[in-house]
Amino acid sequence: MQLSKSVLLFLFFTHFCLFQTPAFAIKKSYIVYLGSHSHAPQVSEADLQAVTRSHHEFLGSFIGSTEKARDAIFYSYKYHINGFAAHLEEEEAAQIAKHSKLHTTHSWEFMLLEKNGTVHPSSLWTKAGFGEDIIIANLDSGVWPESKSFSDEGYGPVPSSWVKGKCQNDTLVPCNRKLIGAQFFKEGYEADGNELDPSFYTARDYEGHGSHTLSTVGGNFVPGASLHNAEAISGTAKGGSPKARVAAYKVCWPGAGCYNADILAGFEAAIRDGVDVISLSIGGEVQDYNHDVIAIGAFHAIQKGIVVVCSAGNDGPTPSSVTNIAPWIITVGASTIDRQFQTWVELGNGRRLKGESFTKEMPESRLYPLISGVQARASNASAKDAELCKPGSLDHEKVGGKILVCLRGENARVDKGLQAFLAGAAGMILCNDKQNGNGLVLDFHFLPASHINYTDGLTVFSYINSTNNPVGYITPTEQVIGVTPAPVMASFSSVGPNPLTPEILKPDITAPGVNIIAAFSLGKNLTGLDNDNRTTPYITMSGTSMSCPHVSGVVGLLKSLHPGWSPAAIRSAISTTARTRDNTDNPMLDGSFEKATPFSYGSGHIRPNRAMDPGLVYDLSVNDYLDFLCANGYNDTMVEQISQSPYNCPKSASLLDFNYPSITVPALSGSVTLSRKLKNVGSPGKYVVHIREPYGISVSVKPRILKFEKIGEEKSFKITLKAKWKGAAKNYEFGSLTWTDGFHNVRSPIVVAAA
Ligand SMILES: *[C@@H]1O[C@H](CO)[C@@H](O)[C@H](O)[C@H]1NC(C)=O
Ligand SMILES: *[C@@H]1O[C@H](CO)[C@@H](O)[C@H](O)[C@H]1NC(C)=O
Ligand SMILES: *[C@@H]1O[C@H](CO)[C@@H](O)[C@H](O)[C@H]1NC(C)=O
Ligand SMILES: *[C@@H]1O[C@H](CO)[C@@H](O)[C@H](O)[C@H]1NC(C)=O
Ligand SMILES: *[C@@H]1O[C@H](CO)[C@@H](O)[C@H](O)[C@H]1NC(C)=O
Ligand SMILES: *[C@@H]1O[C@H](CO)[C@@H](O)[C@H](O)[C@H]1NC(C)=O
Ligand SMILES: *[C@@H]1O[C@H](CO)[C@@H](O)[C@H](O)[C@H]1NC(C)=O
Ligand SMILES: *[C@@H]1O[C@H](CO)[C@@H](O)[C@H](O)[C@H]1NC(C)=O
Repeated sequence: MQLSKSVLLFLFFTHFCLFQTPAFAIKKSYIVYLGSHSHAPQVSEADLQAVTRSHHEFLGSFIGSTEKARDAIFYSYKYHINGFAAHLEEEEAAQIAKHSKLHTTHSWEFMLLEKNGTVHPSSLWTKAGFGEDIIIANLDSGVWPESKSFSDEGYGPVPSSWVKGKCQNDTLVPCNRKLIGAQFFKEGYEADGNELDPSFYTARDYEGHGSHTLSTVGGNFVPGASLHNAEAISGTAKGGSPKARVAAYKVCWPGAGCYNADILAGFEAAIRDGVDVISLSIGGEVQDYNHDVIAIGAFHAIQKGIVVVCSAGNDGPTPSSVTNIAPWIITVGASTIDRQFQTWVELGNGRRLKGESFTKEMPESRLYPLISGVQARASNASAKDAELCKPGSLDHEKVGGKILVCLRGENARVDKGLQAFLAGAAGMILCNDKQNGNGLVLDFHFLPASHINYTDGLTVFSYINSTNNPVGYITPTEQVIGVTPAPVMASFSSVGPNPLTPEILKPDITAPGVNIIAAFSLGKNLTGLDNDNRTTPYITMSGTSMSCPHVSGVVGLLKSLHPGWSPAAIRSAISTTARTRDNTDNPMLDGSFEKATPFSYGSGHIRPNRAMDPGLVYDLSVNDYLDFLCANGYNDTMVEQISQSPYNCPKSASLLDFNYPSITVPALSGSVTLSRKLKNVGSPGKYVVHIREPYGISVSVKPRILKFEKIGEEKSFKITLKAKWKGAAKNYEFGSLTWTDGFHNVRSPIVVAAA
């Protein structure tokens, strides 16, 4: 196989931040009350058993195993009241009491896998046994093995399919029954002239990124996960397939990124080891499929039925910035959840301004004098530098004990906080400059701080100007759940159109990727600043790196529930059940609060509980992917470079007929007819098509009714798109096609532009 030179790829994450949540009610004497049930009037025995199982799982997550939980619980309230009574050690009870009702890793609740800390019997979590015995690989910067997210307490033997996997140099990174593999791939890194001290010949994570993504895919329920500066907001950290076994393949090295040769070696090892899902929050420049190592590695994986999930990139909202676009990969964009971490700035004149950050309480509950950077200027510094609170620009005498007000720009946000801290300030208000407008970032500042928007910043500066005695206060971080609208597409999330094959819609899906809490490396300090010696076991990060493992975790659950589904069937199930509206029931917005399009969210926001029962799927075989390459103009030799076995391209292969769960026609002239094929994976049923036409385009479907008698049955249909007038769809227009049997809605976006 020919490969481009070892090219540098980068981890996908923007910045990091932190937090957690309070949770639910508790009663003493060891009755754990979880709320109420919403059973149908005719509740089935299976549902009741599932409730009891969910109680075992819940308690098990605190006391180590579901076995222990089964022994401990003597009442399981499953009809109306949701809860249980159990014999528990005082400490265990205290632990539950302290942490019950935590929604900590709130993204799973936002995706409805749980509600108010309770896992409903109909949740994909319950149905899929929390992903037990699924093996998930993460190609990233390694793992912090001591993290509680990877503890094997309560786990049975390693699945017998795990024959070749291992922990390489396991004196440095020991494996257990949860973290069943940890390998490192450094030859590409070293071949580029980087020298590695032998004490770093290890899959140990010194970056934090790999521990974060791995714990998001498959980390345990970890109660009491707390974050720096916001210990009060502690909660339960959770992975998407929380009972899955996980394996780390370290292919990214601090400061250097991730080398192609190492990524490919990582793929090879993961495929050989027999994993079920490969999660990869890495990406580089878009290249032809036969020069793109991630595409090639992923192709080999899907040939073995392994699902590959990748991040879309953080280069949005620039058009055509999406990467990892091979049609055999699931490509994931990033969006917000309905949570904010708010800190309020209170001014002496009564104004309250909403900011964000993770911040400790101020030393005393009183108003502190306010001083702007300019007012605190050191005699040898410029006003401009002082305004920005740059190193060496502040007069410590003036700042001591006050709240310093700094302008955003030039030096790092956390560095401004550091300068304020070093100058003896009691707190810092960080005001956006005009350019940054409304974008607020949760940072780990060295002192109580709040980050406010541009207009609020002007309010603070004019208040300081208006009085000889300006005062203020910064409230500690408060978590707010239920923020609207949510989800909103993250402005950094890379978007389409697909730069290589515009007939394929990418990204496929969006998932939570803003301010996500997960495990971190204790080998890395919080800010990367020289004098930062603070570490934390859990942290928040943002990026498509964080949304990708959310989807990988859900894929683990789907694999567990439907072991026979192909990677394409799983992608179809996730895509056709996605949602395009937000929690105000309006169309999802993008980072500038304009209506978002399939170019940013693909089919929409993932809905795990729907994805387990999609009704119908658009399936694809390995040969369909080879025909896709042929249709792209690849000849037999080039196709062979990817598949590694001889292939004869069929005479006619059409990109438009490629059985993808979305419909994209990038250059419509006059009219075009495409075909698609649906496979029944649900109960027998009669499906009727509903169309929402893109503006200026007529869409007709034949036949308009599809009847399925049994599972696995396939039916084809044709779609004709036609411009309604000359000049229609000059720019991309969007619509949808939905097959419905009254219960399942199998929805595909339609994306069209005229030639
Ligand atoms: C969660 O529980 C709290 C009190 O226990 C209740 O006020 C709230 O409405 C519940 N939220 C949901 C979404 O059920
Ligand atoms: C294992 O780690 C040690 C450093 O502690 C190193 O000297 C050795 O080369 C490593 N072994 C392998 C196989 O990488
Ligand atoms: C800035 O934040 C305040 C909340 O403190 C909000 O009311 C205001 O709308 C924001 N400014 C802009 C321009 O959105
Ligand atoms: C001003 O003087 C102080 C103390 O001598 C020094 O630490 C600082 O770097 C100087 N600042 C500038 C901008 O030169
Ligand atoms: C506050 O006063 C300074 C200096 O007098 C001036 O440069 C600045 O524009 C004023 N800011 C506001 C918001 O009024
Ligand atoms: C913090 O991290 C940075 C980069 O990761 C490192 O250069 C620095 O030495 C660290 N600081 C401390 C005090 O460990
Ligand atoms: C971090 O450094 C500060 C002084 O700079 C020191 O007081 C503190 O003990 C250090 N913390 C750790 C965990 O080393
Ligand atoms: C396939 O295409 C490549 C690149 O264009 C070319 O070098 C090669 O000769 C072609 N092979 C065949 C069998 O046509």
